[in-house]
Amino acid sequence: MVKSLTSEVEVDIYDIIFKRKSIRKYNNSPLDESVLTQISEEINNLTPLYDDIKIDVKIISGDDVKLRGMKQAPHYLAIFSEKKEGYLTNIGFMLQQIDLLFSASGIGSCWQGIPSPKGHVIKSSDLKFIILIAFGMPTEPLYREDTSEFKRKSLENITDIKDANELLEPVRLAPSAINNQPWFFTGTKDMIQACTNKPNFLKSVFVNKYIPIDVGIAIYHLKVSAEHFKKTTTIMFNKNETTPKGCNYLATLKLDNEW
Ligand SMILES: Cc1cc2nc3c(=O)[nH]c(=O)nc-3n(C[C@H](O)[C@H](O)[C@H](O)COP(=O)(O)O)c2cc1C
Repeated sequence: MVKSLTSEVEVDIYDIIFKRKSIRKYNNSPLDESVLTQISEEINNLTPLYDDIKIDVKIISGDDVKLRGMKQAPHYLAIFSEKKEGYLTNIGFMLQQIDLLFSASGIGSCWQGIPSPKGHVIKSSDLKFIILIAFGMPTEPLYREDTSEFKRKSLENITDIKDANELLEPVRLAPSAINNQPWFFTGTKDMIQACTNKPNFLKSVFVNKYIPIDVGIAIYHLKVSAEHFKKTTTIMFNKNETTPKGCNYLATLKLDNEW
C-alpha cells in the first residue's frame, strides 16, 4: 500500500498495474506546490536496485524541455545517473515506483525518451542525463477499463516458467519504449532470471538504449507482484547464470516463503 500524493487515501500499487497507462494530454496548470514537495520527498525515498549508484532527479517545467514533436506537460522529472554497471536497469526499477505512484494519486505521467531537457538543465547536474518522465493532471482518462486494452505479448512469449501466470501477469503489462517488451523471464517460480531479447536490426537502432530501462521497469512490477503474493524478494546478480540461447541475463529475483 502507498499513500496518495494528492489525498490521505492509501492505494494498492498492485491494482494500479492492471489499469495504468501512459498519459500524453495534460491540463497546463501546474500542480500545487505542496504536491511537488511531496513528490520530491518520495523521490528521496525510492528503493534502488543497486545501492551504490548515485542518481539525481530534478523536477523541471515544460518550458525547460525540447519537445521534439511530443506534447508539452506542465512538469517533467529529469533523471540523471552515475554511469556504472547496471545504471539503466536501476533507473527503470527506481522511477517506475514514481510512475505507479503518480497513477495511484490521480496524476498522469509518461516516460519520455524522445524529448530532452534544455542545456541549462543538463549542465545543472554532475551526473549523466538519462531520460525524462512527463507528469501533470490528465485531460484524457487516467486508467484503462479492462486489461484487454493493454497491447502486450502473451505470457508464453515472455516466459518459460510453468505455473507462474498470476505472478507474471503484472510483468507482462509493464510499459516499455515503443511498447517493445524486450524481456524474457526464465528459471523457476522461486528463482526467476530476468533477461533481455535481442531486437531486430531496425528496432535496435532506436530501442537499444532503452532496453535495460524497460527491464528495470518489469523487474519492479515483478517485485510488486511477488510481494502481493506475500513473498519476500531478494534481487541478485550472478554473471555466471545459465539462461536460454538468445537471452541476455540481467538479474535474478529470489522469492522466499513457500507457495
Ligand atoms: C523507456 C521508455 C521511453 C519512452 N519514451 C516515450 C516517448 O518518447 N514518447 C512517448 O509518447 N511515449 C514514450 N514511452 C511510453 C511507451 O510508448 C508506452 O509505455 C508503451 O507504448 C506502452 O503503453 P502504456 O504505457 O500506455 O501501457 C516510453 C516508455 C518507456 C518505458
